Amino acid sequence: MNSSSFPLRPESLPRHIAMIMDGNGRWAKKRALNRIRGHREGVESVRDIVRACREIGIEFLTLYAFSTENWLRPALEVSALMRLLKEFLESELSEMMENGIRLTAIGDIGRLPEDVLNVLHEVMERTRENQGMVLNLALSYGGRDEIVRAAQNIAIQVKEGRLHPEEISKEVFSNYLDTHGMPEPDLLIRTSGEMRISNFLLWQIAYAEIFVTQTLWPEFRREELIRILHDYQDRERRFGMTGDQMRKSSTGGEIKKRLQKDNG
Ligand code: IPE
Ligand code: IPE
Ligand code: MG
Repeated sequence: MNSSSFPLRPESLPRHIAMIMDGNGRWAKKRALNRIRGHREGVESVRDIVRACREIGIEFLTLYAFSTENWLRPALEVSALMRLLKEFLESELSEMMENGIRLTAIGDIGRLPEDVLNVLHEVMERTRENQGMVLNLALSYGGRDEIVRAAQNIAIQVKEGRLHPEEISKEVFSNYLDTHGMPEPDLLIRTSGEMRISNFLLWQIAYAEIFVTQTLWPEFRREELIRILHDYQDRERRFGMTGDQMRKSSTGGEIKKRLQKDNG
């Protein structure tokens, strides 16, 4: 059966989708092209997926675009990725405004080259009031780095007497993460087959549904996303409870609400 032929149920869509966009290099290699061409084609997938998510009604889309570890790649590849990022931000601003997309970023963005950082700040500022969807880019992002930065900031608050150690709950802790104010991802998609997290959103994906596709990122487009969303809607999220508990809609709804609140 072609799952895309019936509509998605709006009441059980993920609020937040996170994606590990992997496989640009392999896509290029298969075609005897250089890796940069793979990244360039990957940008086309980003455009298509952002549009699709906006149309489907996803509230938050987080894309892993550059990790703290990716700084160790050859300098030429790093500078090409930075150039592509800047070009993407410049070229997409008008469409973000038209479609009500707000751009945010997580990660140690202070490490980005100054020209990229300036454009990033400008696009974030210009799109700040947009209400349609949040496009959240993980840039110079590492989950461990984010947790350590949060711990440092909490330590400063404690040292200055503004926070007591016993007040540090899961909720308080998550308010110090780069993702504060966002719901946790309901769905995590990784392209190109690797079964690993690669330091992405370590805290936030505690209860995310994980989907790994063999498709390389440059070939990942809306049709496949819709198939994955159908699969997501067929899964039962139990959050540690029993299936019976979750299916009793009153208990299930209550538990889900409580857990989501606990997790900030
Ligand atoms: C993902 O594609 C893009 C970034 C990590 C920036 P890769 O460049 O990792 O592609 P592969 O894994 O080498 O195929
Ligand atoms: C993860 O992909 C990072 C991004 C998609 C930005 P990598 O290609 O860097 O991950 P590993 O090295 O295969 O774990
Ligand atoms: Mg890779």
